Amino acid sequence: MMSQEQRVPVLAAKGLTKHYGHVVALENADLEVYAGQVLAVIGDNGAGKSTLIKVLSGAIQPDKGEIFLNGQPIRFNSPSDARRQGIETVYQNLAVAPAMTIVENLFLGREIRRPGILGSVFRMLDKKQMLQQAQEHMSELKFRIPSVTQNVETLSGGQAQGVAVARSAAFASKVVIMDEPMAALGVKESGMVIDLIRKIRDRGLPIILISHNMPHVFELADCIHIQRLGRRVAVIKPKDYTMSDAVAIMTGAKEVNEYAQ
Ligand SMILES: Nc1ncnc2c1ncn2[C@@H]1O[C@H](COP(=O)(O)OP(=O)(O)OP(=O)(O)O)[C@@H](O)[C@H]1O
Ligand SMILES: [Mg+2]
Repeated sequence: MMSQEQRVPVLAAKGLTKHYGHVVALENADLEVYAGQVLAVIGDNGAGKSTLIKVLSGAIQPDKGEIFLNGQPIRFNSPSDARRQGIETVYQNLAVAPAMTIVENLFLGREIRRPGILGSVFRMLDKKQMLQQAQEHMSELKFRIPSVTQNVETLSGGQAQGVAVARSAAFASKVVIMDEPMAALGVKESGMVIDLIRKIRDRGLPIILISHNMPHVFELADCIHIQRLGRRVAVIKPKDYTMSDAVAIMTGAKEVNEYAQ
């Protein structure tokens, strides 16, 4: 077992600052997420959560600050650049194509080609290989759907969001980032996505989860990053604080000096 001092965060940010004219989106914000951890990010509207996630997923460039991947300084010039380096992001608005099958969605933009000249020159898809890998991946996550060959439009909202989450888990080698993945879902459907997030975490992949839903956050998170006025003001563990403590820290009614790992 490594001591706490030796633990290196998989993804870390230091001193991120992003202004839009006079509007402060981020002001000297830090973040750390460790292996096998669900890090929830909470904060009031406008606290800078989405901006923070956009910087970490390469969608925007910060004015100042640094990002580290396994302790090494790194830059993400675009979302595809971040993806190539192992960071996958799931957005609230479904990033799935309804008229395509689950298999096609899972491999969208990363299709497997047939071996040899058929794939390299004629760009023929290896459908059998993709079908098999899709089935393996879904059963490994114990994600129950009738068949991976059915179109996503035939799924419930929760199942469709599950496909987006499963897709990111399949390709992320370092971190999965999720901005409000349960926001549009009902209770049962949220439960399904929560189960899926837990399975991904248990496979060792760290997850950064933005959510406004305190019961979800307290149910799922290993650590809770609290963002206020563009910066991180505390990191707490759900077992050490109540939901009303977390809200009080978020709004500034309560101050703590706590940066749990
Ligand atoms: N592209 C932009 N142009 C101008 N201002 C922006 C832009 N993006 C964000 N902001 C501002 O930066 C601040 C932080 O926004 P951000 O979207 O990161 O907050 P948030 O914590 O995600 O809020 P919410 O909970 O409402 O999603 C807000 O005041 C917002 O209006
Ligand atoms: Mg937001």
